Amino acid sequence: MSLESEIKKRRTFAIISHPDAGKTTLTEKFLLYGGAINLAGSVKGKKTAKHAVSDWMEIEKERGISVTSSVLQFNYEGYCINILDTPGHEDFSEDTYRTLMAADSAVMVIDASKGVEKQTIKLFKVCVMRHIPIFTFINKMDREANDPFELLDEIESVLGIATCPINWPIGCGKEFKGVYDRKEKNVSLFKAAMNGQKEVDTEIVDASDEAVLKDRIGDAFYDKLQEDIELLDGASAEFDQEMVSAGDLTPVFFGSALTNFGVQTFLEHFLSMTTSPLPRKSDQGVIDPFTEDFSAFVFKIQANMNKAHRDRIAFMRICSGKFEAGMEANHVQGGKKIRLSQPQQMMAEERHIVDEAYAGDIIGVFDPGIFSIGDTICKSNKKFAFEGIPTFAPEHFARVRQIDTMKRKQFIKGINQIAQEGAIQIFQEFNTGMEEIIVGVVGVLQFEVLEYRLKNEYGVDIRLEPLP
Ligand code: G4P
Repeated sequence: MSLESEIKKRRTFAIISHPDAGKTTLTEKFLLYGGAINLAGSVKGKKTAKHAVSDWMEIEKERGISVTSSVLQFNYEGYCINILDTPGHEDFSEDTYRTLMAADSAVMVIDASKGVEKQTIKLFKVCVMRHIPIFTFINKMDREANDPFELLDEIESVLGIATCPINWPIGCGKEFKGVYDRKEKNVSLFKAAMNGQKEVDTEIVDASDEAVLKDRIGDAFYDKLQEDIELLDGASAEFDQEMVSAGDLTPVFFGSALTNFGVQTFLEHFLSMTTSPLPRKSDQGVIDPFTEDFSAFVFKIQANMNKAHRDRIAFMRICSGKFEAGMEANHVQGGKKIRLSQPQQMMAEERHIVDEAYAGDIIGVFDPGIFSIGDTICKSNKKFAFEGIPTFAPEHFARVRQIDTMKRKQFIKGINQIAQEGAIQIFQEFNTGMEEIIVGVVGVLQFEVLEYRLKNEYGVDIRLEPLP
């Protein structure tokens, strides 16, 4: 396959949502279609003590939240899909923001009974800032839900983006009858696929077939649907691919990730409406993804992802060209030529070594401690640097004191590594004799992560004193 067609078939997106809206469940269903897993639920189920593919760190397992962002790749219908999973917990928003910098579009999952929630707003703002396409999946229609018109109004007024429903729900909760496809003018009748199967065969009824439709959904829902369609056709924005691409209009889909209803339709529409890898701005102008020369930027660094390996991985988003294992490239900020060794891709808890990757892909490379977040790596000798990743001002501060002063070396090493990953910021340098420093974080949960990681990865106990 040519370089161009390899890049063209790539779709790299992030899923954003408020915790519990159903991001993990939806991701899992996507993987099911991609054949990456055989049965949904093999990935996650808090109650059965199985964990999300993204939950790498021990602390995540203990608390049942995603702390780090991970990347999943799978193929579906000729597309090569990279999903950037973003941590849902609000304390980790900084990591999430950085992850969004690596995506070309975003899927926003909204809980139909909750509407637009706090975390969604923050993440959404970052997407808007980047003008990337945003797709909305209104989830949990199999439960009591808010009025769909009100949900659309809320998205428009709170997030400031026009909406265009692609399908429309008929009822909700126990009375959820299905969805009406506005383009095809037919109704898919709701049928739950439980136990993690793919979508079960749903009956599709032509909306003009009044007798059959009334028989399936009842007279009252039939009448309501006619009313809704009229209202929608009169009031809502028309689908406009250009506006979608510019991030000014969000296509909206209704469904239920848990019962796998509406997920496949969503995935297919989404893949056709979203974009292949986008050009990126650099200090030497815009870099075209289809140029031969490989380039990438580091958006995340993580140490000790796997205790058995004790290593540091720099995650980079490939922005142009083709990557080949072991290739030499310029590390622009470091001013050196480097060999990119042990390139890896992630799938569930397994990593595998990749031989080649293309613009749009995310790879993790072994980092001997030279990379920082935002760094550019490029093959061409005409060096350039990609636009920086925004940093966020820390909002919480604490004095960190080491309990066992014999472990000073490990303490310094641990603190510095965690700071380089961007999880904390150090405000007061170590001074001799005093084993304490001041650190700042964006969210308070990061203090806990710091404490936990220092203990588990570096064997250092600390005492944290919050500062005003
Ligand atoms: P998150 O990643 O956005 O935090 O959400 P997650 O997918 O973990 O979903 C949160 C809860 O909502 C889970 O239930 C999940 O099963 C449920 N859920 C997701 N999608 C739907 C849906 O379409 N309909 C209904 N009714 N529920 C849905 P849980 O009991 O908290 O956890 P679990 O034991 O099922 O994992």
